[in-house]
Amino acid sequence: MNPDSLIPFRVRDLAAYVPGEQINRPGVIKLNTNENPYPPSPTVAEALAQVSGDALRLYPDPLAREVCGILADLHGVKPGQILAGNGSDEVLALCTRAFVQPGQGIGYLDPSYSLYPVLTAIHGARMTPVPLNQAFQWEPGPAPANCPLFFITNPNAPTGMLHDREVVAAFCRSYQGVVVIDEAYVDFATDTCLDLARTLPNVLVTRTLSKSYALAGIRFGYAVGNSELIGALYKLKDSYNLNLLTQKAAAAALRDQAWMKNLVERIRATREAFVGELVRLGFSTFPSETNFVWTRPPDHLSAPDLYQALKRQDILIRHFSPPGLREHVRITIGTDEQMATLARALQNLCA
Ligand SMILES: Cc1ncc(COP(=O)(O)O)c(C=O)c1O
Repeated sequence: MNPDSLIPFRVRDLAAYVPGEQINRPGVIKLNTNENPYPPSPTVAEALAQVSGDALRLYPDPLAREVCGILADLHGVKPGQILAGNGSDEVLALCTRAFVQPGQGIGYLDPSYSLYPVLTAIHGARMTPVPLNQAFQWEPGPAPANCPLFFITNPNAPTGMLHDREVVAAFCRSYQGVVVIDEAYVDFATDTCLDLARTLPNVLVTRTLSKSYALAGIRFGYAVGNSELIGALYKLKDSYNLNLLTQKAAAAALRDQAWMKNLVERIRATREAFVGELVRLGFSTFPSETNFVWTRPPDHLSAPDLYQALKRQDILIRHFSPPGLREHVRITIGTDEQMATLARALQNLCA
């Protein structure tokens, strides 16, 4: 029997999500997956050290009550309005399963987070991209038909720009389905739409500890919103979707807001200085409200060539090949030292 014939077409033909390269050899400057260059709060390691071997013998709390309680206090909602998951990617996948029947549409802005079309395909739903304009701005038109779910990344990725809150709010108010506002990068931004999740019955906001809290390795993300929508996600999640170590680490990190805010301030300052360098070298940049910069190299240097040239020097940035994206690169903001090394490399390439 040919094992291939055992796999449904939908899975066989699936173009799986391609994560950024994970090359972690010493000396590599890794600016390709929007990780935080600084360590998380020291209270995280302390909390992990306190977990005994005996505690690991038992299953973790399936409802992650400690950490959901902290999040509820932080966001001024009831614990039943929070669902925590194994990274916000899990939460986004749960949304497709909870709110959409296979065959229906899932809407998302294009470009935005490249996982949405993959989740749509996995669920057997119809991809319904809504294009941004040439300047990567959203000019809302009529809402797409038969799409019970719509994803908005805000601030957007890979462009780093924040959609105007009034545009987002008006869209959510008129939308006849669930709107998920993916705020993975919001701690680096000047505005949030969390109030929409608190006040509108059809809006969920998702967040992650992977970026501003420097905890991509623990896999912790969550959704905030209407308790009935959140309840639907609880029905579908794995019973023990958050392991004990992740629950403890996340609780410690969330209790240390000052640490996260300090990391954000440092990264924002580095971002502004680095954008200045890019502009000086003739790159076109977009106003970033995230921990990365979306930029187009000067005419004599193509984006794929830039990506390859930096890779040869052990500096990893992200290049996306689809039309509309391939002229640009996305560069994560690292430490001042890493960005100075990158700026020197760019200067040599532009000379
Ligand atoms: C817009 C956006 N949403 C969600 C995620 C996933 O976050 P997590 O690490 O919590 O799964 C990412 C990760 O890069 C992202 O860019």
